[in-house]
Amino acid sequence: MKVGVVISTEDGPSPTRVDFVVTEGVVHQGQYVEIDSPQGRMLALVEDVIKTNRYFGQPEIVREYELRSSLSQNFPVKEWEFLVGVARPMIVWNDAGTERPTLPPSPGAEVRVPHPEDLKRFLGFNEDGLHIGSLQFHDVLVSLDINRLIQKHFAILAMSGAGKSYTTSVILEEILDRRPEQGRIGVVVFDVHGEYVGFGDPVSDGEHVDYSDRTTVLRVSDLRIPVPSLSANDFTYFIPDLSPAQRRELDRIISAMKSDMEHGSGPYDLADLIDRIAADEVMKDSTRGALISWLRSLEKTGLFDAIERPAVDRIVRPGEMVVFDLSSTLDAKVRQMVVAYFSKRLFDLRREGRIPPTLMVIEEAHNFIPSDIQRTDALARGTLETIAREGRKFGLGLCLISQRPVKLSSTALSQCNTHIILRITNPYDLNHVAESSEGIDSRSAKMITNLRPGEAIIVGAAVNFPVFVRVRRRKSQESKYEKSLVEMAREFEEKMQKVEEDLALL
Ligand SMILES: Nc1ncnc2c1ncn2[C@@H]1O[C@H](COP(=O)(O)OP(=O)(O)OP(=O)(O)O)[C@@H](O)[C@H]1O
Ligand SMILES: [Mg+2]
Repeated sequence: MKVGVVISTEDGPSPTRVDFVVTEGVVHQGQYVEIDSPQGRMLALVEDVIKTNRYFGQPEIVREYELRSSLSQNFPVKEWEFLVGVARPMIVWNDAGTERPTLPPSPGAEVRVPHPEDLKRFLGFNEDGLHIGSLQFHDVLVSLDINRLIQKHFAILAMSGAGKSYTTSVILEEILDRRPEQGRIGVVVFDVHGEYVGFGDPVSDGEHVDYSDRTTVLRVSDLRIPVPSLSANDFTYFIPDLSPAQRRELDRIISAMKSDMEHGSGPYDLADLIDRIAADEVMKDSTRGALISWLRSLEKTGLFDAIERPAVDRIVRPGEMVVFDLSSTLDAKVRQMVVAYFSKRLFDLRREGRIPPTLMVIEEAHNFIPSDIQRTDALARGTLETIAREGRKFGLGLCLISQRPVKLSSTALSQCNTHIILRITNPYDLNHVAESSEGIDSRSAKMITNLRPGEAIIVGAAVNFPVFVRVRRRKSQESKYEKSLVEMAREFEEKMQKVEEDLALL
């Protein structure tokens, strides 16, 4: 279907920019068009649409007319209003194959809406992939290839409320809905705000799909890090201030305890370790005091025990999801410890092939892998950066979610080969995303500020060219955590009323 004709401007047409005037219907920012070029048929992304009207081009004339009567009353101004599209050529194809555009189309060339099949082919969608929504302004389902998206890691970047967790939930549904013959992976989510716990609740409304049979939600109080699995070096993850001398002494004690364990004494916990240090005769008193007080502070978290809980190798299963509900503790340090231990454990188990290929989702990723290398509280940083670098070799994919991309480690972000970008308005974050995302130029950066909730631009490994997508509605129920202010206010009053009624009964 013809929509317009290429025009000649100061900047083009060139192989990187083609302007056209719309002759039929409308063209939207973010839509794809097809143009005849000397190399074949050219696919181009409309990055901007501009309305022009000669009558309104000169401010002094417009003002003069408007003071006396009105331009529209005296002239056929409507007929001189034009819509001009600014398009970025992506690829050209002909009978011989596809090429990079190196020649511009001629002014006067026809601009058309591309055929859906051509779009699917050139954008790199896979029918058997993850169906996360539809291409804006085209009748095409967006179906991302699971290998290209997950194996090479991806990031979901947007300001608060733009739909990051919603989009992630849609991706998780797609993963959980896969059949065994399609290849099923495991999913582990580190859920800072309890936004995914709804997956674990049985559905009773008939409206949503029930994922509770495939989801395990773990509260922090359900978790235990096994002390015997920790070397003195591992302890430095939890106690970054441990001095070399303290570490040496801890190492000596741990070796002794491990050897006892091999000789039949059972697994030990922090209390046993503390007792052993207290009874040690060669340790300097200052070292002993410091170690005991560090270990006591760890003990207070309630997170350590003699054996692991739950057994990670048994709960991560193909086609199933484990949600670590970190909103169940207010202690930021405990959250860091949970992510540090369990992410390392997943990495090791996956390397040994003891769990299926797995996607690891990290909400608020900037708090776990911050760009600020001075932040000593980021206990999981080392492990997560290793997974970002090496995970793909072992089939451990990362999904980093952040509303502050500037604060997210650029090393980690650069390992995320696909970026799903929703609305961002903060200029620092926008700049950072534009710089670190392949295929975003200044004009597409402008598009990011115009996105509405649930609209995203996908760039990078999972797609051949930037894709403007309307994320589909979710099938799973939203987490109860997502309460509106009014709901919370009502709940509070109901609770107060109950308390008063109870008191009245006394
Ligand atoms: N694709 C969509 N379709 C319909 N509604 C959506 C979609 N995406 C987001 N929304 C709406 O926007 C709201 C905010 O989305 P979401 O909670 O995912 O934002 P967020 O980016 O994760 O925010 P935060 O940074 O605060 O966690 C959702 O509650 C939902 O109502
Ligand atoms: Mg969120």
